[in-house]
Amino acid sequence: MGCTSNNATPHAPAIAPGAEGIDPAAIAAGLVRSHGPGGMHPRVRELVPGFDAPFFQAGLAGYSDAAMRIVARRHGCPYCVTEALLDRTILAGGRGFAKADLGDLHDNVPGGGEDQPLAGQILGSDPAEMAAAALKMTEQAARSAKEYRHLAYGDKEAMAPGGHLRLPGGEQIGRLDPTAEPPSPSMPRCLNASMPSSASDSSIPLASFAAIDINLACPVKKISRKARGGHWLAQPAGAIAILEAVREAVPSETPCTLKIRRSFDDTPEMVENFWTILDAAYSMGYAWATIHARTVEQKYVGPSRWDLLRDIVQRARRADPDRPIFGSGDIWTAGDIFRMIDYTGVTGASVARGCIGNPWIFRQARQLLAGETPAPPTIAEQRSVLEEHFELALAVNAGMRSAESFTGRTMRKFGIRFAEHHPQGEEVRQRFIQVTSLDEWRGVLEEFYADSAAGTKEGVPI
Ligand SMILES: Cc1cc2nc3c(=O)[nH]c(=O)nc-3n(C[C@H](O)[C@H](O)[C@H](O)COP(=O)(O)O)c2cc1C
Repeated sequence: MGCTSNNATPHAPAIAPGAEGIDPAAIAAGLVRSHGPGGMHPRVRELVPGFDAPFFQAGLAGYSDAAMRIVARRHGCPYCVTEALLDRTILAGGRGFAKADLGDLHDNVPGGGEDQPLAGQILGSDPAEMAAAALKMTEQAARSAKEYRHLAYGDKEAMAPGGHLRLPGGEQIGRLDPTAEPPSPSMPRCLNASMPSSASDSSIPLASFAAIDINLACPVKKISRKARGGHWLAQPAGAIAILEAVREAVPSETPCTLKIRRSFDDTPEMVENFWTILDAAYSMGYAWATIHARTVEQKYVGPSRWDLLRDIVQRARRADPDRPIFGSGDIWTAGDIFRMIDYTGVTGASVARGCIGNPWIFRQARQLLAGETPAPPTIAEQRSVLEEHFELALAVNAGMRSAESFTGRTMRKFGIRFAEHHPQGEEVRQRFIQVTSLDEWRGVLEEFYADSAAGTKEGVPI
């Protein structure tokens, strides 16, 4: 069930007393004046070239595969995070782990040159496993699968001598020999080969991860009494051991970041734990944290607390006023991105449920930055994105048996969300819910999206 134990809560505005009067267009204009056309703080642009606007597509288990990411990018999203991948899934090359557990490997390898820059997100219980998995992602499986497993599970003799790689505690154990031929990777290096022609230009260098993101936020219960994800917030020493191990293993030129909840719950002890972990992360060189303004206990239920996020940002910035911090929680419209930035002081916002079936949120955010009026998608644009998303999803699933029927079924959940933009939204939604095949999917498009004069849905909130 991944990181998604309860996502069915209705849209709720965040708790942010006094935020009603914020004008997103004015905030966007101010960011452009301060930081240039994309409005992103220069420190982040330096860390991740291409991350040029103050928002990104969050990791969304079950949704944010290469297809969804590419659609988002074509609408102006500057940066994406993979679904949370279990460290053991990465080390095992995907074998032996059910898709239902967490994101599948094939959904999360970079989708060619167009799927850049991309952060690979990892979740796990053991520092050495996390470190080896992070290194494998960074290096794109340039060593043999066995070698990465040795890193995770022991037998240091197996490593080549010299170099940057250290085990938790700082012991230097090996590095890549740049002259050696890479072994045939046990994990696909990228989706170039299976992408549609526009995304498979062989002149594009092999895709890789621009950053490694550690998940300390997933609320799904611990497995076998071992903490992982957000449950580390109740065990700060363990969380710090993981952060240290990963930072030491990943080459220093690759930024490490973390996704964290604002606390495990609202007790003073847990709030203190949050600070212990956050302070440690920044002091060991983590480039930024994305803070989800709900507690782990809250899962996805109820509003996020932008008021508390604002307090966190103020305290975290005492050590360094330019410290990048991203916020997550209740970003439903393009305007919310700039409301959150203004209200809380975050560097940028992570867009999560608000972009499922709504890549136009990124276009609208870019329009606000350009001083334009954000436009809702026309019927013709909706149809074209539905078809494009389907085609990309087919390419992502190409290696599977029954790729077409699998894609038809999985696209249903996107169709249901895309329907929200249609003037006959409820009717379209009901039809998408009934889709079981590719033909039925196409039937819905023919019936509801053929008439490009059908108009746009009025009153889309910004
Ligand atoms: C279906 C679903 C899957 C998610 N998967 C992940 C994930 O894999 N990694 C992650 O960091 N966050 C994940 N999240 C959390 C979101 O990134 C985000 O922090 C959260 O939904 C709050 O933002 P929102 O209220 O704007 O949706 C997931 C959330 C949902 C609803």
